[in-house]
Amino acid sequence: MAGGDAKGRGTWASGIGFILAAAGSAVGLGNIWRFPYITAENGGGAFVLLYLGCIALVGLPIMIAEIMIGRSTQKSTVSAFRQLAGKKSPWVSLGWIGVLCGYLILSFYAVVAGWALHYVVRSVTGALAGKSADQLQAAFTQLSTDGGQSILALVVFMALTMAMVMGGVEKGLERWARILMPALLLMLVGLLVYSFTLSGFGEAFRFVFGFHAHDLTGAGVLEALGHSFFTLSLGMGAMLTYGSYLRRDTDIVGNSIAIAVLDTVIALLACLVIFPITFTAGIETAQGPGLVFISLPIAFSKMAGGSILATVFFALLSFAALTSTISMLEVATSYFIDERGWSRHKATLVSGSAITLLGIPSALTGATVFFGSGMKERFGRDWFSLVSDFSSNILLPLGGFGIALFVAWKVGDRLRHDEFLAGSSFGKFYRLWLGVLRFFVPIAVALVFLKAIGINIF
Ligand code: PFF
Repeated sequence: MAGGDAKGRGTWASGIGFILAAAGSAVGLGNIWRFPYITAENGGGAFVLLYLGCIALVGLPIMIAEIMIGRSTQKSTVSAFRQLAGKKSPWVSLGWIGVLCGYLILSFYAVVAGWALHYVVRSVTGALAGKSADQLQAAFTQLSTDGGQSILALVVFMALTMAMVMGGVEKGLERWARILMPALLLMLVGLLVYSFTLSGFGEAFRFVFGFHAHDLTGAGVLEALGHSFFTLSLGMGAMLTYGSYLRRDTDIVGNSIAIAVLDTVIALLACLVIFPITFTAGIETAQGPGLVFISLPIAFSKMAGGSILATVFFALLSFAALTSTISMLEVATSYFIDERGWSRHKATLVSGSAITLLGIPSALTGATVFFGSGMKERFGRDWFSLVSDFSSNILLPLGGFGIALFVAWKVGDRLRHDEFLAGSSFGKFYRLWLGVLRFFVPIAVALVFLKAIGINIF
């Protein structure tokens, strides 16, 4: 129904359901695929410490603000800003940024998620076993350049995501988070126990937690800050939308802390699973995006029981990605439900299909067709990196910046205060949170944004 009342939209059946779904959104490829390789590229320990600071001082305050907008309006992104700022207000563009990001980010994210799923199949069928390093490198290149396989993986992953989003808040988003998140944690702990037995564990631990001040760089600071947005699913209204299904008496601050802690712990555990394996196998760790799809399979192929380990690892990666893709599609879908009065079924089908089509050029990015390497040769940039850089490096910080300003300066103190205090025992931190959101967060995010558009302050 247009303007959708709170009841018709659905609510989380339980507090833990919301935490699992929101943490499911946060925990994804960003934690298990991206965080380990950017940590490796930035020299380990010092970068990790910086990252923790960014999560606590920038990510967490924005998450509280985003969930607050959703919970107070019980609306999805565009409608929420319309309700709070007025129909024609420029603040409504923050809602539009969210919907646009839902389309753009999901379109390339689902391609990588599809690769993860493809690697589950490869691991189960033993296609990765007994291969040399060169063969495994070639296997990844083949997947990422053979457009047909990548498109198939994308379509399958999007179909799974759509099926789950169609179930609705309680029977779709919450139910699957309740199944996938504990399974993910179990697999992660299982792999961690295994990594702990490896000779490279000590070295990996020192790498992740050893602090060397000289490793800190200006670029590392900005990378840590930028990643804290992506990993906490901030700036595009995903947390706002999930917040809109919250009951009035839920403790937003406590829940946000739980979500941020879960997300961070899982990113750190992913490092403590991956680095011992690569260190023990004597494989280069600072490999970039190929770390998970090339280095790890090489390491697995040298280990007893490697196929089983590989299967568990890629299933873990796929599960993590799925709870995130669900949240992105929910942002796109809930817009049509709230604003256009479409049924959830129709809204999911239309947005999901459009996003799948939009993902095809990304899936073809390594292939020699117009949008792929052909495009790179002609325009110096391929579609995949164009879409991913624009959406995650520009739109997300822009959205986060706007949300911080909106809640800190535009929204009335009454609403903010009530939302902060409802069901919460963190009331005494209200002034501190507001101060950080008013001054520190906008400056920090502006720096990331300026870097993204090529203006480097450091
Ligand atoms: N937080 C997810 C990850 O770390 O993989 C990515 C993401 C999900 C970004 C949902 C944005 C979003 F709305």
